[in-house]
Amino acid sequence: MNKIVRLKIGRILFAGLILMAFSFPATVIAQPPDVVKKDLLDKGKQVYYKRCVWCHGVEGGGDGPAADRLFTRPRNFIQGTFKIRFTDSGELPLEEDLIRTVTNGLPGSAMPAWGGFLSPDEITAVVQFVKTLVQDRSFDDVEDETVVVQEFGSNPWGTKEPYHLGIPQEAIDQGKEIFIKNKCFECHGGEGRGDGNPTMKDDWGFPIVAADWQQCWNFRGSRRHHFDPFNVVRTVSTGLNGTPMPNFKDQITVEDRWKLAAFVNSLCPRKKIDKLTSKPVPDFLISSLYTEGDIAESIEDPMWKAEDDDPSIRERSEETKENPRKNYIAMAGQITRGKRNFDPKTDNLWVSSRWNAEKNVIYYLVEYHIRFLSSDPEYPDAVALQWPAKLSELFGAEKPYFINGDSKKPVDIWKASFMAQDYNSTNPPSETGYKLDVKVEETIGHGFDAITAKESEPKVKVVDAIFKQGKVSVLFKRELTTEGEFDVQIPSEQFIPVSFLQWSGDDKEKDEHMAISTWYYTILEPPLPDSLYYMPPIMAAVFVCFQGWLVWMTKRTRKMFDDGKSRRDFIPPDL
Ligand code: HEC
Ligand code: HEC
Repeated sequence: MNKIVRLKIGRILFAGLILMAFSFPATVIAQPPDVVKKDLLDKGKQVYYKRCVWCHGVEGGGDGPAADRLFTRPRNFIQGTFKIRFTDSGELPLEEDLIRTVTNGLPGSAMPAWGGFLSPDEITAVVQFVKTLVQDRSFDDVEDETVVVQEFGSNPWGTKEPYHLGIPQEAIDQGKEIFIKNKCFECHGGEGRGDGNPTMKDDWGFPIVAADWQQCWNFRGSRRHHFDPFNVVRTVSTGLNGTPMPNFKDQITVEDRWKLAAFVNSLCPRKKIDKLTSKPVPDFLISSLYTEGDIAESIEDPMWKAEDDDPSIRERSEETKENPRKNYIAMAGQITRGKRNFDPKTDNLWVSSRWNAEKNVIYYLVEYHIRFLSSDPEYPDAVALQWPAKLSELFGAEKPYFINGDSKKPVDIWKASFMAQDYNSTNPPSETGYKLDVKVEETIGHGFDAITAKESEPKVKVVDAIFKQGKVSVLFKRELTTEGEFDVQIPSEQFIPVSFLQWSGDDKEKDEHMAISTWYYTILEPPLPDSLYYMPPIMAAVFVCFQGWLVWMTKRTRKMFDDGKSRRDFIPPDL
């Protein structure tokens, strides 16, 4: 055979191979599960009984001493049900899946990231031991327990860590149609806050709620890459075993799963994430924007619109550029005294503010996600702002005790309790939302159990309040300076401590059974001084003149060089 013929045959064969690769869908082949590595069991057992038993229990039943206080509960390993996998629905996970979970934790749950505490060898070992805690199935059953490793394609837009910005709007819009067609909203709600269905249970009979897509840092499977659309593709492809979250492998093509992911992903605000907590870094300073003229008393007014994003990460739209930003406030359960709250239903609030000096008023818009409100008047939902009642008597960075103040440093608490009108948690999500019936109480806190109603005239008002698509918005208003002895007097241009309290009625939270924040600061921004208006043009003009002068000077010097007149070359005339 001569060389040219051989080359031709080679080319034909090659073309054929390429054709085959494209004409058949990529095949995924069933394979045996990753068997237990017996030699690592002793070490794995040691790690488990030192680190994992407190939550997962002696036999892996998910019933360790801490379990009852946690929501979501620690996993019961006995049935061999694992949520975060690359394998098909209902199948055992890969060893890699378990190693990644133990290393990076399950955000939004109590399952810690062990990567920093345990060595990679210890993690591999403890994973072998966890496999042996599974009783109803067996990782060593290579005949019946086959697994199929799914293929997810790759990110079509090549977006990058950490924030994965830049997915084209067209893909997001198409993704929204796929979201509607596949009825994700029945569980996840119309705007993805997880408010679709209040009656779901997991395989172990415990209540479970759909994920809030606007808090993607709480996705169990996000494992340190919170903004990566891949997480959504994987979840939609594999489902979450043991939960009502189904897989959509047969309904949605891989290409469409990426578009769906683009939509889900676009809803999550871009915030800097604290590596330790896997939650957004709190915005500790709430600046109140000086506003001329009337401040809108309607939450829907364009004046109050703002994205939740950190503006340094995702630019604000033209529409909201001039508005006060929304600040992220981290909340945690009150676990110091009395009836403790180990699993608050809300772990953050968003707060923005405006003030006006001539009218002597300040407004705080407090918002938070909550899937379902209470319909029991015994347990209304509520949110409160807490201030030092005697601000002027505080010295330096001094602050009252952060829960209800103390005997020397009392607090002024503005609490709005509310029930939604015509509301039932099993109603389908309502696009118009529910108006809230609000009761405002102003109390003085002199200590944990020492809260009394103020005797002075009420001064705090809630001018608008609504519950819509899994979000509560309450607009507080008060005069800056008032008469009451225990009313905080609000100065401008000064850091003022403020903290927040929140009660979820649906979860029977009441009194000290609440979520709290630490002290934040608020500051009333000064009105822009007149100089700010005329100085920039003057500065610009000076700068332009200076540049012109520089150019002129440079040119002149160069010319002098050229003419041999520059000083360096200056040769004195013969004397
Ligand atoms: C503070 C409590 C706590 C400790 C300690 C803890 N876990 Fe967990 N773990 C959880 C919770 C809660 C879940 C379930 C979260 C969920 O279902 O969303 C979980 C789930 C898991 C899962 C299931 C992952 C999946 O994809 O479904 C594995 C595996 C696991 N833990 C392993 C470990 C190992 C190994 C250790 C010790 C090194 C450990 N856990 C220590 C709370 C804990
Ligand atoms: C039958 C109810 C139901 C439907 C329908 C549903 N989900 Fe879910 N989904 C859930 C539940 C419940 C969870 C939370 C499970 C948990 O906390 O472990 C969840 C969790 C998720 C998560 C978070 C995964 C993680 O890592 O924590 C994503 C993303 C998600 N679903 C996307 C979707 C998309 C996209 C659709 C539509 C194609 C959809 N879901 C349809 C019930 C549902």
